[in-house]
Amino acid sequence: MMRKPKRTIMQVKKDQLHQSQADVLAVGIFQDASRLPSDYTALNKAADGLIGKIIKMGDFKGKANETTVLYSPGKLSCKRIMLLGLGKKDKLELSTLRQAAGTAARTAETLGVVHLDLALHIPVPAKFDLERIGQALAEGAVAGRYDYQDYLPANKEKNATSPLMRVSIIEPKTSAVLKIKRGCKIGQIMAQAQNQTRMVANMPGNELNPPSLARLAQKVSRQTGLKCKVFHDRQLDEMGMNAILAVGAGSASKPRLIRLDYQGRASRANKNPDVVVVGKAITFDSGGISLKPGANMEAMKFDKCGGCAVLGVMSALSSLKFPLHVVGLIPSAENLPSHTSYRPGDIVRTYSGKTVEVQNTDAEGRMILCDALAYAQKMKPGAIIDMATLTGACVIALGTHHAGLFSNNDSLCDQLRQAADRSGDCLWPLPSGPDYLEQMRSKIADLRNIGGREGGSCTAAAFLGEFVGNIPWAHIDIAGVSDTNKSKPYRGVGATGFGVRLVLEYLRGLSKKKG
Ligand code: BES
Ligand code: ZN
Ligand code: ZN
Repeated sequence: MMRKPKRTIMQVKKDQLHQSQADVLAVGIFQDASRLPSDYTALNKAADGLIGKIIKMGDFKGKANETTVLYSPGKLSCKRIMLLGLGKKDKLELSTLRQAAGTAARTAETLGVVHLDLALHIPVPAKFDLERIGQALAEGAVAGRYDYQDYLPANKEKNATSPLMRVSIIEPKTSAVLKIKRGCKIGQIMAQAQNQTRMVANMPGNELNPPSLARLAQKVSRQTGLKCKVFHDRQLDEMGMNAILAVGAGSASKPRLIRLDYQGRASRANKNPDVVVVGKAITFDSGGISLKPGANMEAMKFDKCGGCAVLGVMSALSSLKFPLHVVGLIPSAENLPSHTSYRPGDIVRTYSGKTVEVQNTDAEGRMILCDALAYAQKMKPGAIIDMATLTGACVIALGTHHAGLFSNNDSLCDQLRQAADRSGDCLWPLPSGPDYLEQMRSKIADLRNIGGREGGSCTAAAFLGEFVGNIPWAHIDIAGVSDTNKSKPYRGVGATGFGVRLVLEYLRGLSKKKG
């Protein structure tokens, strides 16, 4: 059951702040500003000096994502003013603005507001690119409004009081409007893709299984004009994708391999894809015969987040019109224990021809990925990027703010780190390679699927690296960042949609380089 998502209409309006007629006008204010910035003089005057007074009294500090709502502000025609903290001025980043827009939209939502005006960027220093500002604000507002409430009765949706919200970025200077508009459009598309990913990733295992995920991908392909090919279990068997089949063998819902193709204009000539993006989609990971402990096992419905991110990326491409050929690959299985499950001790001949000794059925992500990566390698793409909730060790190493980045190619690594800076999906590079691969050697097969406790994320990456040949490749371990149970002022709980805007920014950079 997927509820119709709330709609957010984004626009950019050339207007003076004090002329806003919105239900809420959100203005950005830096921390430690002893005086009101001059950009707000006219507004403050029309508000009978209320804003300046509050700042002077120190009641509103301007800490990042702090809010105060003012009512009946003097002679103004907007119904409310929301003061929104931007933190310290010299610490300002695009992600500060993205979050502030999310906070504004979420706070407005609790007020049941339909029309929100954003003037968060007004005091932002000129060195910030206006297109990027527009993009960040749109991303924040659109992604901020998403909450997973598909199974709550409509009247109990505490936060869903505005099924439709019109969010307008207010900009007084004509010269700035066009640039902000350009960014706003891109930001809206990217955040919608992120929300689409969260919508699918939040679905529970009894609703979303490999076959239903494949049907969803087909629906997305019809809506966006992507090519979609679903390999069913019988075809996987014919192709020799035995690792994907092994992982899914214990479940009544059989595995699928989903392939989506986006072929942008001017990229029709190149047969080889520019990039193949691969995402792990274990719709539920119980661990299988190597069963996980019961505590928090419910969170393992999020073990499909990598695959869902790939779906989100692909769904945005036809709107963004990048001149690239991009292939999305989503290997999907459900990892359950039963009399038909694969077991510790099994030796699997993978699609690549390499054999793998299974020593732990809970290390299933690398199994399904190794078949998908070997398939990707055959296409001889310019690069392969995979995203996977692969290891608990990555959560221990990096926590919940950065995803782990592994790569066999410095240039690809750099491009992804730049995309991380632009998108706010943070990455941190971790090592892998031949030394770690040693731990993955089996005495009775080419590889084994676990390598001991030490460097668990690095050995997993080394395993994957055996299936990409010489193709530039990056592996992003999103186990710590794909979902959250801590709500923030700017986003709710559940799937985060991590990776969608990251990869889209990477592809955007790539298409600029090519064009
Ligand atoms: N899906 C898990 C990894 C995971 C753990 C994601 C915690 C998110 C939060 C993966 O399939 C797994 O179970 N990995 C094992 C590997 C081990 C058996 C070598 C792990 O990390 O414990
Ligand atoms: Zn597992
Ligand atoms: Zn898993």
